[in-house]
Amino acid sequence: MVKNTPAMGWNSWNTFGLDINEEVVLKTAENMVKSGLKDVGYEYVVVDDCWSLKERDKDGKLVADPEKFPHGMKWLSDKIHAMGLKFGMYSCAGVVTCAGYPSSYEHEFVDAQTFADWGVDYLKYDFCFHSSHLSPSLLYKRMNAAIMATGRDILFSACSWGEEGTHEWVHESGADSYRSTCDIWDNWVSIKDIFQSQLDKQQYNYKGCFNDMDMLVVGMRGKGFVARGLGGCTDTEYFTHFALWCMYASPLMLGNDVNNMDDETLKIVTNKDLIRINQDKRCCQPFLINHRDNSHPELQKEMPIIAKYLDDGKIAIMICNFTEGTTNRWNSWFLTESVGVPESSGKTLKMRDIMTNEETVVTNGLFTTPVETHGVKVFIAEIIDK
Ligand code: GLA
Repeated sequence: MVKNTPAMGWNSWNTFGLDINEEVVLKTAENMVKSGLKDVGYEYVVVDDCWSLKERDKDGKLVADPEKFPHGMKWLSDKIHAMGLKFGMYSCAGVVTCAGYPSSYEHEFVDAQTFADWGVDYLKYDFCFHSSHLSPSLLYKRMNAAIMATGRDILFSACSWGEEGTHEWVHESGADSYRSTCDIWDNWVSIKDIFQSQLDKQQYNYKGCFNDMDMLVVGMRGKGFVARGLGGCTDTEYFTHFALWCMYASPLMLGNDVNNMDDETLKIVTNKDLIRINQDKRCCQPFLINHRDNSHPELQKEMPIIAKYLDDGKIAIMICNFTEGTTNRWNSWFLTESVGVPESSGKTLKMRDIMTNEETVVTNGLFTTPVETHGVKVFIAEIIDK
């Protein structure tokens, strides 16, 4: 399916892991509508691994586990569609899924048809236990062809964790997005590692085949499958996580328990400015604007300043502080120059802080602002006359 902006929705894995069922999914969908998540763009409700029986039926088709999904997947899909949402499911390019359930290798066409018959709109396609005889590219092409043969519009979300040079072959395989990272965990180290792993992958993030930095952990607060007792994150860290995923045009798939979501989490994941940056139709690559001479690689990783041109002529600018310790003050000496607005132009930038709405006009090309540890500040900059 051609979707020109990153997908937005919810996926069961991060919180529920193996323990997924119809009631949880349905209630999540209902709460996505009630809480306003649907109104800001979250539309896919995705059931991840562990939804099926361990055996196929006599026709070789996948069967939903009747204990977990007593009404079956078509029923669930109809309910989700009736709420104005879309339905997503999970399979894998291997012989079994990552959790050991039947997978789609050599069953691609029958499985894609089963998903289409169930009204599936989104397929996450994992990479565990895959054949070593066929190239990864061909494994994904097979499922892409199988989806195309159904005639149904199904978003194809590849999930090969950035392995085996995924960024080099995935675009030709028909995927609408591809996991460009390993699995996320609910702690700061994981979020920072994932961001840093994208610094040399960003040029592969295309309109229609987005780098997927994995499902969000915002609001998990140390509870759920990928929390693993790691302690969760602070609100500042969850905000930074969400803002980074937005700047980097990653799909925004919530992974928290939407049925027990606190106000701060809702506030973060419904931030209109950040979602607007994520969903920008121009899909320009974000770029690092400090330390561009590469003489300070550690600073790029620890204190990046990131900019991204938007389709309304403005520029999103994000100033980050990933260092430890106390609040730092930031100095971006060549801010205007670095986004293409030289002194000679007679122009400068008016910066609106998206959290306070405070506006600052940049003078002499310099911009200074404090950013707390593990935090970011995000500005929408407008090019104005000096
Ligand atoms: C892999 C994926 C995860 C999740 C699990 C399910 O680890 O990367 O996102 O889908 O498999 O088993």
